[in-house]
Amino acid sequence: MNDKDRWDELYSACASCNKCELSKTRTNCVFGTGNKNAVLMFVGEAPGEQEDLEGIPFVGRAGKLLDSYLTAVGINRSDVYIANILKCRPPHNRDPLPSEQDMCIDYLREQVRLVRPHFIVCLGRISAMRLIKPDFRITQEHGVWFTKGQFEMSAFYHPSALLRDPRKKEDMLNDMKELKRKLDEYMSTAAGIKE
Ligand code: URA
Repeated sequence: MNDKDRWDELYSACASCNKCELSKTRTNCVFGTGNKNAVLMFVGEAPGEQEDLEGIPFVGRAGKLLDSYLTAVGINRSDVYIANILKCRPPHNRDPLPSEQDMCIDYLREQVRLVRPHFIVCLGRISAMRLIKPDFRITQEHGVWFTKGQFEMSAFYHPSALLRDPRKKEDMLNDMKELKRKLDEYMSTAAGIKE
């Protein structure tokens, strides 16, 4: 099967998924968006209200804030791939349950296999605990880079956390600046040229 067919099949499976209760309350499955050949992938937690309505990740208030950081450091949103751990919105934006994550995570795994990014940035603690390590401490370890297999991974504050506590914004800007520096460095090497 070629990549286009694999993407189509994955999208269909996700859009018709009813493995957990969240499928009953979703307006849309929020699959993922962006460049399918991206070098950088962001992974958030779960769709919020606006994402559920539009079927696109990070389009609400938190998404607009994320966009402003990308613009500030010179990363085009259209160059990156953005997805979440969960594809359906939890009621009242509660934290995703471990059982929901277990049922949904294979969709993300396949997205990562298809995109083959070099950098994966988790947005927030839930995504970091799932993808980097279960005891990840976002306050102490945001912006720290880990090498895992072929990936360089880090976790930044979730934009919603910045909306709640603007004192974290300076750290976020520094983490984003370092990400841009690493991206530029990587892209200037032969490894950054994706076939
Ligand atoms: N928060 C997330 O984690 N993901 C979204 O898509 C929107 C808000």
